[in-house]
Amino acid sequence: MNLTVIYVGIKHGNDHDRSSLRRVVSDVEALKREAGIAACNFIKNGMKLGLGTGSTVRYTVIEIGRLMNEEGLSIVGVPTSESTKELAESLGIPLISLADSGPLDLVIDGADEFDTNFSLIKGGGGALTREKIVAQSSNGMVVVADDTKQVEMLGAFDLPIEIIPFEWERTAARVSEICSGKVSIRGGENPFVTDNGGFILDCSFGPTIDNPKDLENSLLNIAGVVEVGLFVDICDVVVMASSGGIVTLVNPKGRLE
Ligand code: 5RP
Repeated sequence: MNLTVIYVGIKHGNDHDRSSLRRVVSDVEALKREAGIAACNFIKNGMKLGLGTGSTVRYTVIEIGRLMNEEGLSIVGVPTSESTKELAESLGIPLISLADSGPLDLVIDGADEFDTNFSLIKGGGGALTREKIVAQSSNGMVVVADDTKQVEMLGAFDLPIEIIPFEWERTAARVSEICSGKVSIRGGENPFVTDNGGFILDCSFGPTIDNPKDLENSLLNIAGVVEVGLFVDICDVVVMASSGGIVTLVNPKGRLE
């Protein structure tokens, strides 16, 4: 698999380049699928599982459905978004609420970036608030990702922040003081609305986030901010697919082996 030629089809646009681009896109999709399925090795019968959101963990949820239907796996799930809820229901995965489940054994979720300390940026799909509620209610967190998500320093991916719609421009202005003015409302004139009825600000820091916990706390201090897409001290394992195969990265300070 070759992930290095992704620009070629866009730059030149001839038939050969377009087929290269198609091949590369399908390679990335294959990596997501591999990571998503490999993460199921962490699942044990009878577990209460958080079900994450996104195109990578989608493969995990589909595999859980298959394991339940074909191999007798029995789990209950707590979904982190309406889209994951619909997918899980379509696969026959029984769902419960956190109120009924108590602490979860494990959550499996995607990420937009992860760094060497296992800190994450999440929220590319806009589900960060529910994802963090579920992650904080779990005794372990496994992230599924392809190797394009691995970074030295967080921030090349714009940091998603969920805010309430009331006077959102004022909240955005205050957030923008922290990220030097580089804030945009997702969806522009027709803002994207989360499952919670919130809006999403995408904040461009560049790869400079060297203290994600402090940044998270500063942003959470702003009234109107619901949740920040920084997940610190919460991810135990990253199941990462690369062209060389699946790599399981275990956080030495984490809760899982
Ligand atoms: C949604 C998320 C996703 O997990 C994250 O955006 C990764 O998604 P994908 O696997 O599609 O790249 O945080 O809010």
